[in-house]
Formats: sequence, C-alpha cells, structure tokens
Amino acid sequence: MTTETKYDLYGEQFKADPFPIYAQMRDEDPVCYEQGLEGMIWFVTRRADVEAVLRDHKRFVKDWRNTRTAEERAQLSPESPLERLLSQHMLNMDGPDHARLRGLVNKAFTARMVNNLRERVQGIADDLLDKVQALGHMDLIDEYAFPLPIVVISDVLGIPSADRERFRLWSNTFIAPTYGEEDFRRAEKLMLEFTGYLRQVFAERRQAPRNDLITGLVHAEEAGDTLNEDELFAMVILLIVAGHETTVNLIGNGALALLQHPEQLAKLKADPSLIEAAVEELLRYDGPVDRATMRFAAEDVELGGQLIQRGQAVAVALTSANRDADQFAHPDEVDITRPDNRHLAFGFGVHYCVGAPLARMEGQIAINTLVQRLPNLRLTVPADELKWGTVPIIRGMKHMPVAWDVTA
Ligand code: HEM
Repeated sequence: MTTETKYDLYGEQFKADPFPIYAQMRDEDPVCYEQGLEGMIWFVTRRADVEAVLRDHKRFVKDWRNTRTAEERAQLSPESPLERLLSQHMLNMDGPDHARLRGLVNKAFTARMVNNLRERVQGIADDLLDKVQALGHMDLIDEYAFPLPIVVISDVLGIPSADRERFRLWSNTFIAPTYGEEDFRRAEKLMLEFTGYLRQVFAERRQAPRNDLITGLVHAEEAGDTLNEDELFAMVILLIVAGHETTVNLIGNGALALLQHPEQLAKLKADPSLIEAAVEELLRYDGPVDRATMRFAAEDVELGGQLIQRGQAVAVALTSANRDADQFAHPDEVDITRPDNRHLAFGFGVHYCVGAPLARMEGQIAINTLVQRLPNLRLTVPADELKWGTVPIIRGMKHMPVAWDVTA
C-alpha cells in the first residue's frame, strides 16, 4: 500500500493539466492511497474501477456516519446547527433519505420541463452576446459562461437574478476548502449571510406562493412529512451550487477545447445539428467535475488489488475515467462525432446528476450561440497562461479572454 504523497493532485500545475498525472496513475497506481486535503484518501482513476465504486452505493456510502456501528455513532459529537443546515442534502445521503430528497426535485428537471426553458436560455445567451458583440472581446467566463446558468437556476428556483453577483461569492464559499481559522470564520460569515437571505425568500414564498421550485419545496416542508427545515435549506443551496459551479465550466472548458481544435470548431460551425454529440464529447474530454464528491467504505472492500478499509475515504476521478483508453479510442483527441460516448462527466448510479438534462440543454445553446455568432473566435492569451481554479473537485478556468472579428 502506498502511503507517501507520490502525486500532486491539488497544485497549480495539476490544475492546469491533470491528464498526464492521471494517465500515469491509471498505469502505475490505479487505486492509490494518498494524503488529501482532509486526511488520507483512496484515489481511483481507471474507468472500470470508477464505475464499480459509483455503482456500489451500498458499500461506498456518502454519509460517513453510515460507516460507523451503532456504538461508534453514539460517541460522535453532534453537528453544529450551521453544519446541519449545509450537510442535509441528497448528495450527502444514502438509501431511503436520498431517494426521498431526490424524488422532490426530479420532476423539475425532466426533458419536457427542460424543453420549456429552451427559449428563455436562448434569450439569455443572445442578450449576453448583444452586450459585447460590437466590442470584439470579452472574458468568456465572467461575461458569458458565469451569468447564463446562474440566471437559469435562479429562474427555476424563483430567486431574483439581480442577486447573482452575491450568489457567486456565496456559492463559491460552499465548494472552496478553508485554510486556517480566519478563512473558516470568513466562510462561516458568508454562509450565514446566504442562509439569512434564503430564509427571507422562503418567508416571502410562504406568504405569496408562485409557480416556482422554491414554492414547491416550501410547501413540502410545511406539509411536514417529506422535507424538514434543514433539508429545505440544504436542498436549495445544493441546487444553486451544483447548478452553476459546473455549467459555467462546461461552457468555458468546452469553448476552450473547440478553440484548441479548430477543425472540430469548423465542423460544428458548418453543421450546428452536431451540437448534441459535440457537448457529450466536450464533457468527456474536459468535464467540469474532476473528482466526484467523497465516498466512504461502509465495510472492507477489495478494489484493483488494494484493500479499502471500513471508514476510509474514496475519491473517484471522473476526468481520468473519461480519458481511459480501455473505454475510449484515442481518448486524448476531441471528436465531436464520437460514437458510443459513454462518459462519466455526470457521475453514475444513484447520485447521477439530477440536473443533467438542464445542463446539457444550457451547454448546447450556449456553445452553439457562441460558435455561430462570433466570427473568428480566438483566445487572446496563450493557453498555457490561462489560470485554473483551485477547488479540488471542480475543473474550470478563472478567466478566459477571447476576441472575434467585428463585422459592420
Ligand atoms: C455540466 C454541468 C454539470 C455537471 C458536469 C454535473 C455533474 C454532476 C456529477 C458528477 C454529479 C455526481 C456527484 C457524485 O456522485 O459525487 C452530480 C450530482 C448532482 N447534480 Fe450535477 N452537474 C451539472 C449540472 C447540474 C445542474 C444544472 C444541476 C441542477 C440545477 C445539478 C444538480 C445536481 C444534483 C442535485 C446532484 C446530486 C444528485 C444526487 O445526489 O442524487 N447539476 N452532478
């Protein structure tokens, strides 16, 4: 068993280009025990192993308490009220509680519901480009990829999109690790601000119901049998965070991959109907979620010749699985017409992304609109000067300066 830190899985160099490191791990240490940010973690990098972990939701659980015996649990200190508020969401739950929470929102993200939002999303994409088209340049992240999904998820939930800049700060706080006491206090303050803000929105919907998801969830909470108050907060926060920290990077990473593969960009430009397959390939090639959220072994499990002991943490690398040559021919190439593209960018199994239909539609419209409307779109800095975010599970750029030709 490896116990030293052999691979840099957090640093700037890794974030800028994780693929060579993952390729080495798939070859040499496919199930590898390394120091992570929060203690020792099993990192799993091969497609077959990643799928095996995600499929086996009974032995690889999301709530670490479920790895403890009844006696061990009795000894645990209770969570603080804020911790409870933030942790009681479906992505942290197992079994019937997970199914109950997921069932409450599943309907909001069906293909039909999502189809009804198409026009709205096209309108948002066009409005954003109307603002910058004549200028000939923009930061693709700040001015396009970020505002689009945050307006969409705000619409779905029923939160005023005017508050979106504050959302950015708040939502980033939930996914960014904290370093030291001061950082933790700052994060805690922001989280309390966010929950205070939501409390007010919930009160407004109780008074004056609307046709939106928050009204539906507040109603379920009032009925009392399907959702308690902590879960209501945690659900809305999860949807906001999961709904845009990821989609912004589908648009950003996807646009970058196309700019770096001009022949693929030209193909898409010539035939916009390729967009569905193209988005699947962009998700596979450089998806927004690097490693899925942590699992914990509920019992001792053997995987890839290693023994994972009860209670130990397991991180599966989706971006690595998506470049595994055992599954994909020429995995490091972009082919927007790739057949049988069974990528894992949205995860797999019971926690498979509930927002996938919405994210796909947003990505398809955002990328096609960009490609069709901005002639000669190009990066204005060399690709190796782009700065990548440092949050462990997310893969995305901080900024992406681009330019295009302005036609009269
Ligand atoms: C391109 C954009 C997106 C990507 C790549 C993505 C990816 C993922 C992945 C990999 C998971 C599973 C995580 C795990 O098993 O640890 C997940 C779960 C989830 N996603 Fe997404 N997501 C995207 C967009 C969205 C959107 C737009 C929403 C909703 C508005 C959303 C809501 C959720 C929720 C609620 C879960 C938890 C599901 C569960 O625990 O059953 N996601 N997503």
